[in-house]
Amino acid sequence: MAETERVICRVDELKDGGLAVKFVVSQSEPARDLPCFAIAFDGAVYAYVNSCPHRGTELDWQAGEVFEETGLYLVCATHGALFVPNSGLCVDGPCHGARLRPVAINIVGNDVVLSGHSSDIGNHTAMKT
Ligand code: FES
Repeated sequence: MAETERVICRVDELKDGGLAVKFVVSQSEPARDLPCFAIAFDGAVYAYVNSCPHRGTELDWQAGEVFEETGLYLVCATHGALFVPNSGLCVDGPCHGARLRPVAINIVGNDVVLSGHSSDIGNHTAMKT
């Protein structure tokens, strides 16, 4: 990943089960921009690559709308797969048992900060708010 640490958003912009903050991570090998999102759930912040394991589409049906109506699961707008917000595990739908790819973040003060290490996509990080 070519990225260095940078602020994604403020922690207080994220509400449990609410709108996600979308951001892009530039990856160097292979070179591409990965759409990602950060969410708050159960008092912690999580970030994932915005790509459904089923067909690779972005989850949100409108910008940042990644939770289903109860706020308990993330939902893919394309075919309705449900994901556990704190693990990215798909618990219902065509990619049952697969996972969203986590993006490593840190909480620094009131900022959600993207970690700058190339190995961080694929390693799960969740920080308590
Ligand atoms: S693309 Fe997400 S469930 Fe099919």
